[in-house]
Amino acid sequence: MSSSGVTAGDQGIAAMTRPRLGIDDVKVGGRRVLVRVDFNVPMDGLRIVDDRRIRAALPTLATLRARGAQVVVATHLGRPQGRPVEALRVAPLAGRLGELLELQVNVSQDVAGPSARALVAGMRDGDVVMLENVRFESGEERDDATLSAHLAALADLYVDDAFGAAHRAHASTHGVARLLPAYAGLLMQRELEMLGRVLRDPARPLVAIIGGSKISSKLGVLRMLMHRVDTLWVGGAMACTFYRALGEETGTSLVELDQVDVAAALLEEARGAGVADLRLPIDVVVAPSLEAGAGTATVSWKEISPDQAVVDVGADTVAAIGADCQVAGTVVWNGPLGIYEVEAFAHGTRGVAGALAGSDATTVVGGGDLVAALDAAGLTDRMGFVSTGGGATLELLEGRILPGVAVLRERPQS
Ligand code: 3PG
Repeated sequence: MSSSGVTAGDQGIAAMTRPRLGIDDVKVGGRRVLVRVDFNVPMDGLRIVDDRRIRAALPTLATLRARGAQVVVATHLGRPQGRPVEALRVAPLAGRLGELLELQVNVSQDVAGPSARALVAGMRDGDVVMLENVRFESGEERDDATLSAHLAALADLYVDDAFGAAHRAHASTHGVARLLPAYAGLLMQRELEMLGRVLRDPARPLVAIIGGSKISSKLGVLRMLMHRVDTLWVGGAMACTFYRALGEETGTSLVELDQVDVAAALLEEARGAGVADLRLPIDVVVAPSLEAGAGTATVSWKEISPDQAVVDVGADTVAAIGADCQVAGTVVWNGPLGIYEVEAFAHGTRGVAGALAGSDATTVVGGGDLVAALDAAGLTDRMGFVSTGGGATLELLEGRILPGVAVLRERPQS
């Protein structure tokens, strides 16, 4: 459904997703290029659990190298809160990047201090080095001017390929971009193009599937999508808050009691003309506990008993979502539909993924949890476009201004 009138969200979407100057025509040979990437990947100790974000940045990094740039890579990892944390050093990330690029990627001992300066000073064309975790510096999350200046002093140009961190106005995603000629990397451009396509000019019908546990974290995106999409499916534990708003029993399911009124208001809004058809799971899988091995049953959404919790969507719901996807021009999906970490509760998410894999619709999938669920099912590569963003993707879909993108517009490129 198209909204009437231009909202702040519309303006945000237009501003965030219009094409921008990328690195194609920039002379980078012999120049030092600071590339902000988002290698904030899931780790198990020093082991990288999923290197998707590292692989996603390879086109930019390989292109810059091939064109003779000296590439200085910066990323954050985790939330060390402005001080060094041994477990969050970037060495494993540099190791993996080196394997993928087939070269040695050395890491500085500090973020933008003497060690980083010495490492960068010794670079030759085509070399790649990595700065230590930018969040080891207390100035990073404060968007501190001094840290930004120290980062800028390491390079001649700045390229932002960290779409996943573009919603953060930090020194390495924002401050430094004001001090150097700044460009969008290939991943950043692709993310904005694909998410922009969904929001600006989607092939219709446009179907959105929003899962996850909390309405409170998805409220902005639900409101925005309601006025843009033709069909809006709500799954995951979030659906239970909607059931409660409809006066139904939800047993021991996770319900956000303080969001029941919000859910009721959304349902009321959805009854109006010109907004999306809001759909809730028609059948659900319930279990007496959330433990693996708990016996499950599939019941209608009106038959949840007081001692059961909803853990997944049922087969009829999967079929209904699948049918919508089969005729859709575009499908955007964020958030799993059940407690996918437990094998027995992952069928709904997998079933919908299977339906999407077989559909001709343009599919845009995002959110760390959903991608983890798809990875576990071996289905990620069968989705059309998988966004590397978590919070950034949601904020873009909400029509919010992403500081890391907005700053690239402010900067005159040279
Ligand atoms: C993410 O994983 O969503 C990004 O890397 C941002 O991380 P943050 O939420 O810690 O800022």
